[in-house]
Amino acid sequence: QATIIGGGPATRVQSYSAKLLKGPANTLRALPDNYLGPILTLEKGQKVRIFFNNRLHEPSIIHWHGLHVPQHSDGHPMYTIQPGEQYVYEFEVLNRAGTSFYHSHAHDLTAEQVYRGLAGLIVINDADEAKLDLPRGEYDLPLVIQDRRFDGRSQLQYLHAMPERMMGFLGDTILVNGKPQAQFSVKTRAYRFRAVNGSNSRIYKLGWDDGTPLTAIGTDAGLLAKPETRPYIMLAPGERVDLWLDFSGRAVGSRLTLYSLAYSGALPGMHGGMDMMQAQLAQGAKFPIAAFNINEKVGDSPKLPQTLVPFQRLSEADTDNRDNPIPIALSIRHMRPLLNGLSFSMDRVTDYEKVALGSIKKIRIFHDHGGAGREHATGMGMGRMGGMRRGDDEAGQGMGGMGGMSMDMAHPIHLHGQQYQILSRNAAKTDAADYATVKDGFIDSGWKDTVLVMPGEEVNIVKPFQDYKGLFLYHCHNLEHEDLGMMRQYYIG
Ligand code: C2O
Ligand code: CU
Ligand code: CU
Repeated sequence: QATIIGGGPATRVQSYSAKLLKGPANTLRALPDNYLGPILTLEKGQKVRIFFNNRLHEPSIIHWHGLHVPQHSDGHPMYTIQPGEQYVYEFEVLNRAGTSFYHSHAHDLTAEQVYRGLAGLIVINDADEAKLDLPRGEYDLPLVIQDRRFDGRSQLQYLHAMPERMMGFLGDTILVNGKPQAQFSVKTRAYRFRAVNGSNSRIYKLGWDDGTPLTAIGTDAGLLAKPETRPYIMLAPGERVDLWLDFSGRAVGSRLTLYSLAYSGALPGMHGGMDMMQAQLAQGAKFPIAAFNINEKVGDSPKLPQTLVPFQRLSEADTDNRDNPIPIALSIRHMRPLLNGLSFSMDRVTDYEKVALGSIKKIRIFHDHGGAGREHATGMGMGRMGGMRRGDDEAGQGMGGMGGMSMDMAHPIHLHGQQYQILSRNAAKTDAADYATVKDGFIDSGWKDTVLVMPGEEVNIVKPFQDYKGLFLYHCHNLEHEDLGMMRQYYIG
């Protein structure tokens, strides 16, 4: 076990376990209560020092996902420490109030280390949020969602096989805060649930079993300007959403179940030879996540505020490169998921990855099929195979285990450093039928650090690069893709 010891005097550390009931059919005993790391509670403006002691038998380093911190404290894999070593982080909390998380960022080891439990929640509080009458204390709960697999002896099982690497690892057991078959015991009032997708590659489509819409009050980087109510909310690996779940008026003894609802199109090749990698619980399948048992009637409840914490909306006009956006081109070639056709290299940046300190940039994230004039095919009559084409250069070489295929799949794209805003989504090249199953679930109005880019989709963002010089990563938060090198970095200077 690697341990993380919370730093500054005001850092409160708590655990998830007291908040969850054990499910009746809970037979998985492999995970201890501290499967996830402790919850770190920080205050905006606080100066934090964290000692990370690596007691694993392999190298590791921790990254504070969502926190805007100096390069030295960002958990870049160049700072990976060896077993027995200690790494000291020091930073000031610049972020607004919100929900973030920390996890391993040791290159090539990230996916498995996170899978085995090297992750935990960060809660940031600030004065703006404190002014609002939001659910607090026992009514403000984490909802860390992860999918895992267990072997016959109830031990965590991680596979390094190529299909898992290429598509991302999918488990068949859903954990909430480290427990299977999660159940919460709730009162007839409003709750705040801080949902975090801590899965390696699974994308959730959060929705209630009875069709009640969901209300979001925050995204990756804190509260929205005003609440948003949706039939369902998409949550990709690395993303967070703060949910306002109101059980007022529900009958004592009733139960509501949060599901991941069915959707399609995130993966190529759901047919034919690719079926085996989908054997257990497919990406896009419908399954329950957690049950909420209404067990006590209470008189009053906070009311959903109509205004939360207003902030400045950034636009293209705030950037200095509106006609020349920085590209993030997504592709998979020769079994490697790539950014701008490149793999991660520890000490390299390209010209367009050099960014002036203090600038605000437009960044365009899109799928790249690698050949001039090779257009994205939409609406091909082969279901998901429509998103998968053989590269011209590979014609005649056979499938070779997908080696020659150019594949379009969903990628959650995460940028370190300061958070960004989403300018636009262009779905013109998506498969309309697939896209219809997800399109109402994106909460794009808040500050973000991770954005789900569906096959065929283009997303434009505006990102400030202020405060800190240095190397800051951007990568796919499908952790298997990240480990395979679908990661690059900006040099801010
Ligand atoms: Cu949550 Cu660089 O990652
Ligand atoms: Cu991060
Ligand atoms: Cu990816």
